[in-house]
Amino acid sequence: MRLGAAPRPAELDPIERVSRDELMALQLERLQWTLHHAYQNVPKYRQKFDEHGVHPADCKELGDLAKFPFTTKQDLRDSYPFGMFAVPRERVARVHASSGTTGQPTVVGYTKNDLDVWADVMARSIRAAGGRPGDIVHISYGYGLFTGGLGAHYGAERLGCTVIPVSGGMTPRQVRLIADFRPDVIMVTPSYMLALLDEFDRQGLDARASSLRIGVFGAEPWTEEMRAEIEDRFDLDAVDIYGLSEVMGPGVANECVESKDGLHIWEDHFYPETVDPFTGAPAETGELVFTSLTKEALPIIRYRTRDLTRLLPGTARPAFRRMEKVTGRTDDMIILRGVNVFPTQIEEIVLRVPGLSPHFQVHLTRPGRLDVMTVKVEARRGLEAGTEARAEAGQAVRRAVKDTIGVQVEVEVVDPETLERSVGKLRRLVDKRDT
Ligand code: DLL
Repeated sequence: MRLGAAPRPAELDPIERVSRDELMALQLERLQWTLHHAYQNVPKYRQKFDEHGVHPADCKELGDLAKFPFTTKQDLRDSYPFGMFAVPRERVARVHASSGTTGQPTVVGYTKNDLDVWADVMARSIRAAGGRPGDIVHISYGYGLFTGGLGAHYGAERLGCTVIPVSGGMTPRQVRLIADFRPDVIMVTPSYMLALLDEFDRQGLDARASSLRIGVFGAEPWTEEMRAEIEDRFDLDAVDIYGLSEVMGPGVANECVESKDGLHIWEDHFYPETVDPFTGAPAETGELVFTSLTKEALPIIRYRTRDLTRLLPGTARPAFRRMEKVTGRTDDMIILRGVNVFPTQIEEIVLRVPGLSPHFQVHLTRPGRLDVMTVKVEARRGLEAGTEARAEAGQAVRRAVKDTIGVQVEVEVVDPETLERSVGKLRRLVDKRDT
């Protein structure tokens, strides 16, 4: 795997160099403040803590956090729009919201100080990815209520970069701007990066010859196979960034370019746990749960992210634990005839088959009593329709899914550029079972 250069110690935030013990002492102090702040200022938290029979004063060590109740997306929805804010509305400097594709949007708020912390952790994230002051940063995450664009924007400014605030969409123009402005860093969803790649090809430009040195990719799950594909096609370092609006936005955790071994969680601001998604009990691999440690406007206690991962000890930043790349969300998991399947598992398989592109969708139908999963995947150019080679590529996917995941699926290899492209977050799953 290609690895980048580590920052010099003097380039790091002082907190990135503390010992685990020092960090944990800071976490406890901040956790106690957060629990009191939430209890005193948010009726919903007071009610939940009281019902649970816990009080902020019961938190004497970090492990005591497990005594406190979880917070879910539903809690935020019940309090729509501003009911969980812990400061008077006048102190809220900005509001963001989730897209709300699955119901009422969840609204989040930030004080000036929260925005400052967010810019700091984002700047730290971009530096961990290999960005440096003076770099030109092209931002294709959407600007607006989504946290991606503005989150990346203020972080890149904080680091001292030259920011190109492009937002998503208008793909031909994106490629022209990359060619003309010669950015060092691009911040975009990995799926939209693939759409940019198609556009480089369409314009007859060599993506490997572009000025881009680093890609900071997140907002959706992506695999090591996808990393290899993007790094190879663009000749850059592809680094993973994670975050969610309820906890802050992008910049909750980021990979270090010198190790690319999972994402260091910025634990001075966000405290992670992993729990069994069904029972809520602590689990080594499971659903990621976050508690904010410094947030003023929207303190969040034990928030159930629905993202599945595993916590690991720190490496490139020894005091900070890492999370493995997210495999998927509990709500993306397909249960096909009793077997759990994640779109990321299909991504790994598809990208290992020569002749197939990374563009695929998983369709679910129920023609009779049983669910049928069909993987529609685009051929790369040169793998012509009707040929033996194309049929063999489809067979290879079918066999690999059977051998590694243990389920029978249908595979359709379709022509290049026939599947829908996304501008922001990609939807891999097309569920047609109810129609
Ligand atoms: O997606 C924030 C973000 C913007 C992160 C840009 C990274 C880059 P939400 O719209 O609230 O916020 O969606 C959060 O997206 O719970 C995960 O399911 C998913 N997600 C975010 N980053 C990753 C990642 C932004 N690196 C939800 N890998 C989260 C896998 C991710 N999934």
